[in-house]
Amino acid sequence: MIRTRNLWLSLLVLSAIPVGCRRSAPPSFSPGEEVLQLTAELEDADAEEVALYQDLQEQISDILKEHSGTPNKPKMLGLAEDDNPALQRGYAIYTRYCTQCHGVNGDGKGPLAKYLDPKPRDYTRGIFKFTSTPYGKKPRHSDLIRTVRQGVQGTSMPSFDRFTESDVHAVVDYVLVLTLRGELQRELAMIAYDDEELPDGEGLTEIIDAKLDLWEQSSQQLVMPVTAMPPMTDDTVAVGHQLFLKFACNKCHGKFGRGGSLGNVEIGTDAWGNKGAAADLSSGMFRGGSRPVDIYRRIYSGINGTPMPAFETTFKENPDAIWQLVHFIKATGERRRQGMSPLSEADLPSTAPTESNKPPAEESASEKPGHEAA
Ligand code: HEC
Ligand code: HEC
Repeated sequence: MIRTRNLWLSLLVLSAIPVGCRRSAPPSFSPGEEVLQLTAELEDADAEEVALYQDLQEQISDILKEHSGTPNKPKMLGLAEDDNPALQRGYAIYTRYCTQCHGVNGDGKGPLAKYLDPKPRDYTRGIFKFTSTPYGKKPRHSDLIRTVRQGVQGTSMPSFDRFTESDVHAVVDYVLVLTLRGELQRELAMIAYDDEELPDGEGLTEIIDAKLDLWEQSSQQLVMPVTAMPPMTDDTVAVGHQLFLKFACNKCHGKFGRGGSLGNVEIGTDAWGNKGAAADLSSGMFRGGSRPVDIYRRIYSGINGTPMPAFETTFKENPDAIWQLVHFIKATGERRRQGMSPLSEADLPSTAPTESNKPPAEESASEKPGHEAA
């Protein structure tokens, strides 16, 4: 009996697919983990308490629907419009090209995500890595556009450089809808947890405005290099190499900057709870873009949500140092591409050769105590 029912169910599901959009319910967002959490640990609670938290969950869902809409009727937080054709276009593009990795909710839980490393970005935390803004700030709109156009080199994030100008804006705006919705959801869940009630009217408006302010402020904080890039010479590369060792970049990126390729130093998890890995700086592939100014910004501002620190203050007195590091990193990749041995301490102008000056092949297994077992 049960079998036949399952068979019927699967037939139903299968037959629903081709009929698809016309017949099925309109697409909807599902509650985030932090909202589900509100009722997750209530086994011993009395019925009244369970009802209270279920009611809070429903209220959160209603607030989100009112302010962010539904997947195919999206609203930009803060703009009280019911009908926005550009955002609806964004939804259509997102559904076709992004959902399989980033998920309907933008929480990075698309059906492909489990096979991918690094994981697709969970937008709902409002944290982005590849920004031209100072550490801890939101990205500029143009940063998100650049990421979508260029992709993230060395990861599964594809480049969508054939999108028309208006389509790329539409899909990035849709990503913003999901991001702001996720940020609001997270905050409402926290308030519900702490206060057992939710803000409305002015209280809610204030919360929303504060979120939007952070985005607005960041859009005005472009990090421009403090000094112009000096010409790249053997000297700037050698000084960059010295700085790389002096400021312990190698502690995470490994000797020669090879990061992951020599087995990683343990560096903990990122803001999304995934295991982090320092970039292989010799691969010639840069997730955040390979222009010198991109690499400069990664060093100056660090990388949000990851262990990569910002070195803005470290080099405040000597801003050229950041360019010298950029030159060393560029040269390291170039040497590797040409099959030359990596720069070693022996190449440093005034450093005596040391134990650690062995060619890279030998140190792969025993370089550092922090290594993971292969
Ligand atoms: C095959 C999987 C895949 C698809 C399809 C995909 N992405 Fe991504 N995306 C990723 C991964 C993986 C990352 C994270 C890269 C990292 O952390 O370095 C990412 C990161 C991002 C980021 C964050 C960049 C930052 O600064 O943190 C944005 C924005 C983004 N994707 C937008 C999109 C959009 C828009 C689409 C569709 C047009 C899309 N992605 C399609 C896998 C994908
Ligand atoms: C505490 C560990 C740590 C230290 C110290 C560190 N990094 Fe990083 N770095 C990382 C991690 C982790 C990433 C990769 C972040 C990501 O994309 O997930 C990274 C990424 C980078 C990138 C971006 C590469 C890309 O793909 O775009 C550059 C450039 C870089 N680091 C340079 C440096 C330099 C130069 C120093 C020293 C002045 C340094 N790092 C020190 C952990 C570290």
